[in-house]
Amino acid sequence: MNGAQRFLAACSCRPVDRTPVWMMRQAGRYLPEYRAVRELVDFLTLCKTPELAAEVSLQPIRRFGMDACIVFCDILIPVEAMGATLAFTDTGPAIAQPVRSQAAVDELRIPDPQTDMPFVAQTLRNLRAALKEETALVGFCGAPFTLAAYLVEGGGSKSFATIKTLMYREPATLHALLAKLADTMAAYAGAQIDAGAQAMQVFDTWAGELAPDAFERFALPYQKIVIDRIRAGGVPAILFVNGCAGVLELMVQTKADVLSIDWRIGLDAARKRVGNGFALQGNVDPTVLLSTPQAVRDSAHDAMRAAGSLGHILNLGHGILPPTPIECASAFVDAPKATPVTA
Ligand code: CP3
Repeated sequence: MNGAQRFLAACSCRPVDRTPVWMMRQAGRYLPEYRAVRELVDFLTLCKTPELAAEVSLQPIRRFGMDACIVFCDILIPVEAMGATLAFTDTGPAIAQPVRSQAAVDELRIPDPQTDMPFVAQTLRNLRAALKEETALVGFCGAPFTLAAYLVEGGGSKSFATIKTLMYREPATLHALLAKLADTMAAYAGAQIDAGAQAMQVFDTWAGELAPDAFERFALPYQKIVIDRIRAGGVPAILFVNGCAGVLELMVQTKADVLSIDWRIGLDAARKRVGNGFALQGNVDPTVLLSTPQAVRDSAHDAMRAAGSLGHILNLGHGILPPTPIECASAFVDAPKATPVTA
């Protein structure tokens, strides 16, 4: 099997010759060749320049040979196309005028991916041509709740107090924002599929901060809108929630083909709770990759053993960290290559 066949087979729980592997944030600052490109251009310019975005997407594939290549971009790019003013600072993303009222929601527009973000489709087309059929091409978008968290907070947050206050005080305003984001992401996902994405990952990174009843009302219905559009496009949908242990049964209701699991729950325990209809992705703690190649191999094998051989994509439980040594990233990607599936 080649990488694309292996990855797509695992997404639909079909048999594989070995477990497929890739890493969230695999294109990034732990790679010297990525840092070299970043010395020439700022992050947003990199996202918007198809030749450079395709180049940094391919860097980890050339070095390590993952089974899937994720397009280089950022979940906040479409939010900028909706009218928000976005900047990346040393402390992460910043939104100049946070969205905290119905009037501010009304001002956001639903962008047309073809005319407002044409560089994303172009990057995907460049990547499909470069990867041929060897490596699966994965597109992605943010889920409405996580995007709303950045828009309402004005950037990252530890407590999410501002969006949660809006949620409990003025739920209709937040629902209006989430509905607009869901329409935007559904169209954006569709455009990525048209441009050659063979699977789509939906990042609801911060939805794990919600109480389960709030997740059910403010995250789940909007995840569903985006995931329905992805499945209608004929490619598998992968749903990632950081801190998913409290909401796994709700994630199942989205009918995402693949559930991406963080390290706070074992894949065997997750499997028992979600049943056999879904593939699981994950779930090595990214800080393991700050230690030694042997510890990385051990953790990767533990994850593969816990997941079993059918319907598992080896990945991290969240993005790879910038101080990760190259030899640890390499040990992670090589771990399944030395281990043909048995049972
Ligand atoms: O996975 C990949 O290799 C594809 C590229 C990718 C990036 N961001 C590149 C990036 C993907 C899939 C994302 C998604 C993303 N962006 C998420 C969801 C996934 C997650 O990690 O939870 C979120 C929440 C964002 C928003 C965002 N972008 C943050 C919070 C930051 C700063 C964090 C940090 O580590 O500094 C970014 C910037 C960013 N996005 C970088 C990269 C490589 C670093 C920017 C740089 O080069 O300086």
